[in-house]
Amino acid sequence: MTTSDLWDEDTARRYDETSAEMFDPSVLDPAVDVLAELAGHGPALEFAIGTGRVGIPLRDRGIQVTGIELSQPMVDQLRRRADADRVPVTVGDMATTRVEGDFSLVYLVWNSISNLRTQSEQVGCFRNAARHLRPGGRFVIELWVPPIRRMPPGQHAVPMTATDEHLVFDTYDLVTQQSTSQHYWTEPDGSVRHGVGRFRYIWPAECDLMAQLAGMELEARYADWHRQPFTADSQSHVSVWRRR
Ligand SMILES: C[S@@+](CC[C@H](N)C(=O)[O-])C[C@H]1O[C@@H](n2cnc3c(N)ncnc32)[C@H](O)[C@@H]1O
Repeated sequence: MTTSDLWDEDTARRYDETSAEMFDPSVLDPAVDVLAELAGHGPALEFAIGTGRVGIPLRDRGIQVTGIELSQPMVDQLRRRADADRVPVTVGDMATTRVEGDFSLVYLVWNSISNLRTQSEQVGCFRNAARHLRPGGRFVIELWVPPIRRMPPGQHAVPMTATDEHLVFDTYDLVTQQSTSQHYWTEPDGSVRHGVGRFRYIWPAECDLMAQLAGMELEARYADWHRQPFTADSQSHVSVWRRR
């Protein structure tokens, strides 16, 4: 049993359109470049593969890619672009599901570790990644740094996006590390659609401890897929751990 929200059919159907900026080659290509390099000859395993935004282009680079994904509707969308021979996917929880194979790379992008809303499940996810890696294999995550510095005392929400079409406020509970993203989209007919995502935020140092518990050590941490240096002002990180 997972604490993750289950992404439903409506969300899955809209996903590629509502995430269009993440499919832009300027965003996607650097991520696929880094993952292809780290995978070497592969094979690679993507946790929370979604509709295949990253997994399919990585497969197109000649690397065998397998996925684990909780939401059947997301997998149904992926299947419109890649069949099961090309990109096999097991429907299950990335903290516990085991698939066949011995991987050179396991990766989990676009903040998706935060979908697991307890610390023990997040530790379970690191352990599950290590379980799928051959010795020396790598686990890579892409994760936002919670923007707590933007909250003055007494405030618990931060505006993340504010356009005519889309308003996003994130809330942060500093005691429990629980977070929500409150989305409001203005539809072409003028109506407003609300959606909410629930997360547990984690700091890079907590990730390193989880990796250590799973028998992995930090190899590199960048601010982004261009391998910019990670600094106190970085808003995200791409971290690479290596299985001992
Ligand atoms: C932001 S999307 C990322 C999808 C894809 N990796 C991408 O980059 O486009 C998050 C994905 O995590 C999946 N997910 C959430 N909790 C999960 C879990 N416990 N195990 C596996 N997948 C999960 C969701 O169903 C969704 O497809």
